[in-house]
Amino acid sequence: MMLKDKVAVIYGAGGAIGGAVARAFASAGAKLFLTGRHLAPVEAVAKDVVSAGGSAEAAEVDALDEQAVGKHLQSVSDTAGRVDISFNAVGIPNTKILGVPLVELDVEQFSLPIATYSTSYFLTARLAARHMVPNRSGVIMTVTALHSRTGIPLVGGYGPAMAAKEALTRDLSAELASQGIRVVGLRPQAMPETRTIKEAFEPRAKASGLTWEQWQESLASRTHARRLMTLEEMADVAVLMASDKASGMTGTTVNLTMGSLDD
Ligand SMILES: NC(=O)c1ccc[n+]([C@@H]2O[C@H](COP(=O)([O-])OP(=O)(O)OC[C@H]3O[C@@H](n4cnc5c(N)ncnc54)[C@H](OP(=O)(O)O)[C@@H]3O)[C@@H](O)[C@H]2O)c1
Repeated sequence: MMLKDKVAVIYGAGGAIGGAVARAFASAGAKLFLTGRHLAPVEAVAKDVVSAGGSAEAAEVDALDEQAVGKHLQSVSDTAGRVDISFNAVGIPNTKILGVPLVELDVEQFSLPIATYSTSYFLTARLAARHMVPNRSGVIMTVTALHSRTGIPLVGGYGPAMAAKEALTRDLSAELASQGIRVVGLRPQAMPETRTIKEAFEPRAKASGLTWEQWQESLASRTHARRLMTLEEMADVAVLMASDKASGMTGTTVNLTMGSLDD
C-alpha cells in the first residue's frame, strides 16, 4: 500500500495509460478522482476500481479548460481535504498528427500536438500545485515518449511536444521542489497492447510489407531485453514514482524505453 490514502487526480483516465495508472494507484491504496474529456470511459475505469475494492470518483473535465480543471480540483480539495498527486495522461489520436513529412506538413497539424500536450500539462500542473503548496507536499506527473530525445521521421510536431513536456517537468521542479513538490515524468516505449499504438502503426506496418507481429518484433529488437514494456509494468513504476519511496526523485523523466534510448 505505497500510496495509502493519497489523493490522486488523473487526467485522461479513460485512456490506456490513464486507466492502467488508475488501477495501479488504487491497488496501492490511493483515493482516485478520475477525469477525462468524455465521461463514459472514465466511469468504466472508476467502476472497475470500485468493484476491485478501491476508491474512485469520475468526472468530465476537459484538461485544456482552465476553469473546468480549477473547479474540479477545488471540489476534490473540498471533498478529500487535499491533492497529493496529479497525473496527466492526456493523449490525442496519433492518426491526427503522424505520417506526413515535415516539408509537407501544414502549420495547424504541426502545432496541434505542441499546443495540446504542453498546454494541458501546464494547466493541470499549475492548478494542482496551487493546492499542494499550502501542504508543502505533492507529486506532479505526466507521460512522454522517446520522440523527445531522438529523431524519428514522419512524427510531425509530436517530438517537439514531448520535448516541451520534459522541459516543463524540469522547470516546474526547479520552482516547486523547494516547496515540497516533486515533478517526475515517465517516458515509456510504445506499448502495442494500447489502441493508440495499434491504430497508428498497424496500417503503416502493413504499408511497408510487415505484419503487425513483425512490426512489434522489430521495435522490441531495439530494446536490451528484446521485448516491449507492458502497461502494467509502466503503471508499477508510476506507483513507485508517486510514492514517498521516490522522495529523492524530482525534475526528471524516467527512461522506460528498456535500452532503446540511451541516457
Ligand atoms: N500508448 C503508448 O504506448 C504510449 C507510449 C508512450 C507515450 N504515450 C503517450 O501517453 C499519452 C497517453 O497515451 P494513451 O495510449 O493512454 O492514449 P489514449 O488511450 O488515447 O488516452 C488518452 C486519453 O486522453 C483523453 N483526452 C484527450 N484530450 C483530452 C482533454 N482535452 N481533456 C481530458 N482528456 C483528454 C482521451 O479522451 P477522449 O478519447 O475522450 O478524447 C483519452 O481518454 C499520450 O501522450 C501518448 O503520446 C503513449
